[in-house]
Amino acid sequence: MSQSSAPSADKPFLRALAGEAVWPPPVWLMRQAGRYLPEYLETRRTAGSFLDLCYTPDLAVEVTLQPLRRYGFDAAILFSDILVIPHALGQDLAFKQGEGPVLDALTGEADVAKLDVGRVLDHMRPVLETVSGLAKAIPETTALIGFAGAPWTVATYMVEGGGSKDFAKTKAWAYGRPDLFEALIETLVQATGDYLIAQIDAGAEAVQIFDTWAGALPEADFMRWVVAPIGRLTKRIQAERPGIPVIGFPRGAGLLYPTFVRETGVTAVSLDTSLPCGWAAEAIQPLAVTQGNLDPIHVVVGGEALDVATDHVLNTLGGQRPHIFNLGHGIVPQTPPENVARLMERIRNTPRPGSV
Ligand code: CP3
Repeated sequence: MSQSSAPSADKPFLRALAGEAVWPPPVWLMRQAGRYLPEYLETRRTAGSFLDLCYTPDLAVEVTLQPLRRYGFDAAILFSDILVIPHALGQDLAFKQGEGPVLDALTGEADVAKLDVGRVLDHMRPVLETVSGLAKAIPETTALIGFAGAPWTVATYMVEGGGSKDFAKTKAWAYGRPDLFEALIETLVQATGDYLIAQIDAGAEAVQIFDTWAGALPEADFMRWVVAPIGRLTKRIQAERPGIPVIGFPRGAGLLYPTFVRETGVTAVSLDTSLPCGWAAEAIQPLAVTQGNLDPIHVVVGGEALDVATDHVLNTLGGQRPHIFNLGHGIVPQTPPENVARLMERIRNTPRPGSV
């Protein structure tokens, strides 16, 4: 059944999500487990492939814990990928070295009709086992985040057959065949809802929905393909597992961020790097808890430039209102691990803005 709705008193991440201006702000980093860590590369070698790593609970638990051991983050995020959902629905998926994900692209109605929501939870058994293993293994003050890709972003990979620069095929469906695209999005809303609720039942204490390509759509289509599906997912989670915070990440949504927050009802919103912190403090913080938004490349470069950029986020978004420190997008493979240590030092040792 559902987790307790009272946030654990000793988990700063959950206290911030419940509305407390915790200081120092809780911190975790998107893609905190991954190729910038030598111990990750070692474990991935043992697993054979990236997908084998995702589907082997012992190894997935191990790589989730690696960044916690080094840096003591306030939250662990399940190690998996947003593309396990198309895989679970029956689409072929491979991660090719240096090429990113490759899927067997959907070509039309027949392919959409073949997607089978009924097999998702069975396919996800090893991932759910990773979640329950993590719930037992993480430190007491660390929270566990479950996640999934948003329907729009996952649909782009399913229709394009991989990554894309212009999303031309997906937009051709969304703008030219909205009936067909709606059927795909609805399949994803159902599968993703089942999957996130199963993660919560296995021990996830909050969930994040990644809409990496939300910024590719004009306003009306943003409302239809980003806001509406994430709103349906959020409402289902709130109704079926009350008290579990939902974090949305509509990357690139710009001026539509406040609309996204209001219309979806998310508990918290992850700010991408392009959003001015001062604007976010005025336009978004009164509506929801914020998370973000240091440029990941600042962590690559390090030094005093990293300190200055970190202080800007801390001083503008932190202290008065609940904020979770994070990056504006995932950490990149060329990040020197010692720069993450420097970032953590800075976040943990900066006095609360307004207190001196
Ligand atoms: O944050 C974490 O530590 C948890 C794990 C996680 C991964 N992917 C592991 C991963 C999460 C939350 C994701 C989300 C994800 N995956 C997104 C949304 C967030 C974002 O970054 O925009 C997207 C768009 C994907 C799809 C995806 N997965 C791509 C395009 C790629 C290839 C590019 C790349 O970075 O390699 C992946 C692979 C992937 N997912 C890796 C990891 C650690 C690298 C695989 C490897 O070890 O080679």
